[in-house]
Amino acid sequence: FLMIRRPPRSTLFPYTTLFRSSYAKEKVGQMKGIFLTMEGPDGSGKTTQILKLKEHLMQHGYDKVVVTREPGGTVISEAVRGILLNREYAEMDDHTEALLYAAARAQLVAQVIKPALDAGKAVISDRFVDSSAVYQGMARGLGVEKIYELNGFAMQGIWPDLTIHLDLPAEVGLARAKSRAELDRMEAQSTAFHEKVAQGYRDLAALAPERIVTIDATQDIETIHAEVVKQVEKLLAAR
Ligand code: TMP
Repeated sequence: FLMIRRPPRSTLFPYTTLFRSSYAKEKVGQMKGIFLTMEGPDGSGKTTQILKLKEHLMQHGYDKVVVTREPGGTVISEAVRGILLNREYAEMDDHTEALLYAAARAQLVAQVIKPALDAGKAVISDRFVDSSAVYQGMARGLGVEKIYELNGFAMQGIWPDLTIHLDLPAEVGLARAKSRAELDRMEAQSTAFHEKVAQGYRDLAALAPERIVTIDATQDIETIHAEVVKQVEKLLAAR
């Protein structure tokens, strides 16, 4: 899984949609929804930045902004989240884990994200498929291509228009996570696992630079927010 390089054209399948959202193009002629995702290691400040971005969008013309999170965001997906993050389930197989994340995603896409985009709303998700690519594909070692392929079934062709990657050394994020609550099953993984996650995000962003923008999350909240806004405004201006 460390061989994350641009694949030859003939095998581009899972990556063709990785580079750009096909969704917006399909929706030409209708009011365009916009789908933004926030990614990064545990404790990278995603939630804070999402709330600030929502405020910004609402003050600048987007009166309908749906904020959601993964795994979660629907009753069913939150129930699956309960299974995924329960530390008592230490025996969970990596394949099971990948499928459960995909199942939670399928319900969220069908029940929340797709209807919101169809109605022309802005959707911001705290994590989406790239979390699976990095945590299950890279850190667990199941393979990025396999994970995108598996998740294609859950996503119904819906890809983010823009993904913000908050980049942070693994130990900084973990220290933050530890300070705010008891660690869940994923957070309780080894330091080596979290280091693979942090590096995995960098590798993934390098693979899809058109869609995934990396921001240094060790900066202060307002500086990060300004960079997030700059990227989102760039996307909106281009539409
Ligand atoms: P959260 O703490 O950011 O809400 O996310 C829950 C945990 O689940 C976090 O450690 C990242 C992990 N995760 C995956 O491993 N794969 C996924 O597809 C998603 C969405 C999250």
